Amino acid sequence: MAIEKKFILAPSILGADPLSVGSAVDSLKGNWDWLHLDIMDGHFVRNFSFGPAMVEALRKKYEDAFLDVHLMINELDYFLPKFADAGASQISIHAEVSPQLLHGRLSWIHKRGIKAGVVIAPATTVESLRYVLPLADLVLVMSVTPGSGGQSLIESSFEKTRLLSRLRSEEGRRYLIQMDGGIKLENARIAAEAGCDALVMGSAVFSSFDPSDYLAKTRNELKNMTIAKGDL
Ligand code: DX5
Ligand code: ZN
Repeated sequence: MAIEKKFILAPSILGADPLSVGSAVDSLKGNWDWLHLDIMDGHFVRNFSFGPAMVEALRKKYEDAFLDVHLMINELDYFLPKFADAGASQISIHAEVSPQLLHGRLSWIHKRGIKAGVVIAPATTVESLRYVLPLADLVLVMSVTPGSGGQSLIESSFEKTRLLSRLRSEEGRRYLIQMDGGIKLENARIAAEAGCDALVMGSAVFSSFDPSDYLAKTRNELKNMTIAKGDL
């Protein structure tokens, strides 16, 4: 039996005016499911963004929010506890950062009672994740080069999403698939049809005239997509 699929919209506050993040989130009028927080250290990526204090402030202001923290940082062992303590609901870490430690770090996140995501940058293969997929609550497919918002989507990301979706059903996995970078109203449905469950949108939302309405239009664009009952 087919049921309507519910998609997760995750606006990225990297796309908001850094001088008024709180009012930018307010301008979404709650029309979001996850708040995507892009953490950058100036080493793993050539940019800085914000740190645990931002997560803490958002947790204080939006007590029940699902804070989806995407760590684009090298010093994971030092900072994972800081983001966990700050109130992250989910922490996604890049498979490219010391891959030999990936299992242990994903397990550490789980032990803290937090959802664990694994991220692949555009040049990294889905195949390289094969042995951590059983540990992942989420696989984040970066559809732009990590480090900044407002870039154009890299088309091969759809193929990776389709492969992850196929692997998920073939192996009976439960991870969600998230695409992150260059997602907007015009390509959201292609992402959804490729098997994406959660869509990150930064500049498209916050540069729009009415961010809340932009999210509503995106949700509308994804309506009437069905999945077999029991699938994600
Ligand atoms: C880039 C970030 C993305 C980005 C998305 O490193 O991970 O989340 O902020 O922004 P847009 O939607 O503007 O590409
Ligand atoms: Zn991100």
